[in-house]
Parts: sequence; C-alpha cells; structure tokens
Amino acid sequence: MKKYKVGVIGATGMVGQRFVSLLENHPWFELVAVAASARSAGKPYGEVVADRWMMATPIPAAAAALTIMNATDDIKKIASVVDFVFCAVDMKKDEIQALEEAYAKAECPVVSNNSAHRWTEDVPMVVPEINPGHIEIIKDQRKRLGTKRGFIAVKSNCSLQSYVPALNPLREKYGLSKALVCTYQAISGAGKNFATWPEMLDNVIPYIGGEEEKSEREPMKLWGHIENGKIVNASWPSITAQCLRVPVTDGHMAAVFMSFDKKPTEEEILKTWAEFRGRAQELELPSAPKQFLHYFTEPDHPQTKSERNLENGMAVSIGRLRPDTQYDYKFVCLSHNTLRGAAGGAVLLAELLCAEGYMD
Ligand SMILES: NC(=O)c1ccc[n+]([C@@H]2O[C@H](COP(=O)([O-])OP(=O)(O)OC[C@H]3O[C@@H](n4cnc5c(N)ncnc54)[C@H](OP(=O)(O)O)[C@@H]3O)[C@@H](O)[C@H]2O)c1
Repeated sequence: MKKYKVGVIGATGMVGQRFVSLLENHPWFELVAVAASARSAGKPYGEVVADRWMMATPIPAAAAALTIMNATDDIKKIASVVDFVFCAVDMKKDEIQALEEAYAKAECPVVSNNSAHRWTEDVPMVVPEINPGHIEIIKDQRKRLGTKRGFIAVKSNCSLQSYVPALNPLREKYGLSKALVCTYQAISGAGKNFATWPEMLDNVIPYIGGEEEKSEREPMKLWGHIENGKIVNASWPSITAQCLRVPVTDGHMAAVFMSFDKKPTEEEILKTWAEFRGRAQELELPSAPKQFLHYFTEPDHPQTKSERNLENGMAVSIGRLRPDTQYDYKFVCLSHNTLRGAAGGAVLLAELLCAEGYMD
C-alpha cells in the first residue's frame, strides 16, 4: 500500500502531540507537515514543544526537525505537500469551521477532532465500528463545497466513546428504549495534567461545559441515516447524562443504566458484546482493536489505570453487568479519552477513509 503524506494542524497542542506520537512508525501514514498558531510558526517543532511535551514517549526525531507552518496562512502550501490533514485546534467555533472548509476547498481532506462541524448536516461524524456507511455523504458534501477531493470528516466527542459502543450492538437487536449515563472524565480531556491543573488533585468538579448536551445528542447522529444528502438523526433511544471531572490523568469511565423493548437475558448481552465486530475489524485497519468490546468478569474491573491502554488504548472495557431495580440492567465501561476518544479515533477514521478510497 502507498504511504499517505499527512499534516497535523494544531500539532503543538495536547491532541496534536498525540497525533504526532501515533503517526511515528504508522504503516500507512507519513507525517510531513505540522502547523500551529502564528506564535509557533517558523520555529522547529522539537524546540516549541520541548517544555510542553505531555506524551509518555519522546518527541519523534523526524517530527522534531519539521519547521512549524502557520495553520491559517499556509493552507495552500500545506495542501500542496500532503494527501490529507488531521485537525485539533483551540480556536472559536466559527474560526474552526472556516479553517476546516478552507483546507477542504484547497482539495485537502480534513479528519477533525474539533466539534465545530459535528452538526453540519453533510459532514460525517464517524466511529468506524458503529456508522462506517456515513462516509458516503462525502459525495454530497463535495458537491456543496465544489471540490473533487476535499472534504471534512469528524469524530464524535470523547465522553460517549465508552457507552455508545457498548449500547450499539444491543440497540436494534433488543430495542434499546432508554439509557441513563454518568461519566467520570479524566483531566486530559480538558487538555490538562496535574501540573497545569493542581486544583484537580483530591477533587471532583460536577460540571464540564457543554459535555452533557454532547453526550445526549451526538449518539443520535451516529445512529442516524443518510437521506437526501443529509444525515438525519435517530429518534431513539432517549439518553440522559451527567458528566463529572475526576482526578484521573487519562481514561473516561461511565456508569450506565439501560432498558429495552425486548429485554435480553444477561447471557444474550454478554454474547452480543463478545461477538461484536465492526467495519474496522473486517478491514483489519492498522489501529483497529482485534476485540472492540472486552468484558471483565471481576467485580472491581474495569479500572482506569489497568484497562485504559487495552489494545493500544483503542478498545472499550466493560464490567459489572447486572439487573437494576428501575432500569433493566446497569453496567460500567471505560475508554481512553485521548487515544480512542481523540487522536486514535481520528487516525482509525482516516484509515477507514483510505481503505474505502476517499483519500485517493
Ligand atoms: N484534549 C482532549 O482530550 C480532546 C478530546 C477531543 C477533542 N478535543 C478538541 O481538540 C482540539 C484541540 O484540543 P487540545 O486539548 O489539543 O488543545 P490545546 O492543547 O490547547 O492545543 C491547541 C492547538 O491549537 C493551536 N492554535 C491555537 N490558536 C490558534 C490559532 N489562532 N491559529 C492556529 N492554531 C491555533 C495551538 O497552537 P500554539 O501552540 O501555536 O498556540 C495548538 O497547536 C479542541 O477543539 C478540543 O475541543 C480535545
């Protein structure tokens, strides 16, 4: 397979650094361009991130030597040297929308971590194991943008990356009618660690701006369908969510309650989870976990520290399935928020888009 040349827009940030790390030694992708704000542009990547590198592995040498480009001023230059870009920038929503469209219109596909385009009707928001077919909307988006190659594809929010995969194979099969979710979210989800957010030590904050709305609404787009060039949201199940920030570096946990129209047995649920395979597994994409949903029978698992890196942080861990007095069942689940929930999920989406011919 040919190697695709890729760029990372917002490469100096927390998610950007994760992209740079994941792209080192990637079998299909070669990092050839990094871009950030005017504050960083023109300087060597290694120099700019030296004192704010947050990854556990060292800065990849090839990336360190790249000169940072200006994310807003160098669009044509970047588009001329890459096959597509990943984007994770901290800017205003309308600025991000305009920036991503500018790359797409420069015939440079954008695989984005940002939320700015998640509700654009012809922008697919994709978890490759859940709604891979939504990438077909790209042909309608290209028509609107007037592009041949360029388009925008996004991934969903990190908060729902644990419970939506667990609910997904049960939804149609057993008529999932409602779910109640409480998430316990790591501080890296806010781009922070304990050095930069010491107030989080020994603390829980019961508010994450905008997160509960995303946790309730975004699953409906993932479970939606394409109709007349738009993605029409699903109308069920009904989901209610509370999202808390907890003193954990990485890994979002969720406590979930669920009810069904056709209530399955516990054994049926466990079998459905064990047998679930998505398009990412069928295509054997390089970043796809072999087993997407892992069930732990020990009552005190999954735990954040021991399970968040399962299958390179790309699998979902589930445990504690049991009957509930008000809902049919309850369980807990966990996913790595900056791997599967952010950069890793976007890399997997890019692999799907390459495998399905959208990057050629
Ligand atoms: N952290 C997570 O777990 C997570 C998860 C999912 C999605 N996201 C989303 O991913 C995006 C990035 O998050 P982050 O945590 O990586 O943020 P971050 O650490 O603050 O990094 C922001 C990046 O954006 C660049 N930037 C800021 N202003 C810019 C401008 N005016 N023009 C061009 N580039 C600019 C920064 O460049 P400089 O270094 O030059 O300032 C930096 O590379 C956000 O939209 C966030 O909502 C984050």
